[in-house]
Amino acid sequence: MHIDLVTALPELVRSPLDGSIVGRARERGLVEIDVHDLREWAEGKHRQVDDLPYGGGGGMVLKPEPVFAAIEDLASRRRYDEVIFLTPDGVRLDQPLVNRLSLADNLLLFAGHYKNVDERARESLFTIEVSIGDYVLTGGELPALVLVDAIVRLLPGVISDAGSAMSDSFQDGLLDAPAYTRPPDYRGLRVPDVLLSGDHAAVDAWREAQRVERTRRRRPDLLAPDDREES
Ligand code: 6GU
Repeated sequence: MHIDLVTALPELVRSPLDGSIVGRARERGLVEIDVHDLREWAEGKHRQVDDLPYGGGGGMVLKPEPVFAAIEDLASRRRYDEVIFLTPDGVRLDQPLVNRLSLADNLLLFAGHYKNVDERARESLFTIEVSIGDYVLTGGELPALVLVDAIVRLLPGVISDAGSAMSDSFQDGLLDAPAYTRPPDYRGLRVPDVLLSGDHAAVDAWREAQRVERTRRRRPDLLAPDDREES
C-alpha cells in the first residue's frame, strides 16, 4: 500500500510515523508513506495557504488553489482508491471502515489545521470525509495518524501473530477478553483457574463468554438489541 499524507504541518506527523509498528512496517517495505507539505503547492513569496472566511466569523479557511494544486498533482502520479479529508463533520471512523480502507492500493489523506477548507475544494476533490469521533481537535493531523495506524496494523505481515489483529476488540463486534500473565498469584489476586488448566477448548469458551459479558456491560450499543441485557 502507498499512502500520501498532505498537511500544512508535516513536522507534526513525521516522528509518529517513524516509530514502533508503523515505522517498522515502512522499513520492511510493507507500506510506503510520503508526507507532503501543503506549502509546496502554495504560490507567492509567503506561500500563504489560508485566508479569512467570506461573510466574516472566526478562524481561517484553507484557500482552494493550493488544495486543488496538491491533490491534482498527486493524482496525476497515482490512481487513488480514496482521497480522504479528515474533518470532525465527516463519517465517524469505525473498524469496518478501517477494514475496507486497508484493502486499498493507494490512499491520499488530507489533514487541515484550520477551521475549514474552502467548500469548493471539499466538494470537488475528496471521495470521503472522515472524523475520528464526536469531539473537536485543533487539526486533522492526529486523526490522520490514527487512521494510518489503524490501517497499517491490518496489512499482511505487519503484525506477526496472524490471529492477533482478527481477534481484536471490535473486529467481530465484541470487546476483547481480559488478559493475564505470570505470576499466577499477585498479592492474593489470582489468575482465573481455567487459564492455567491447559484445556484449550475451555479457555476458548471462557474467553468468548468474557467477551460477550464485557461487551454487554461496557458497550451494550455494540450488541444487537436482542442480545442486550434487560433493565
Ligand atoms: Cl478528523 N479533525 C478535527 N479537527 N477534529 C476532529 C476530527 C478530525 N475527528 C474528531 N475530531
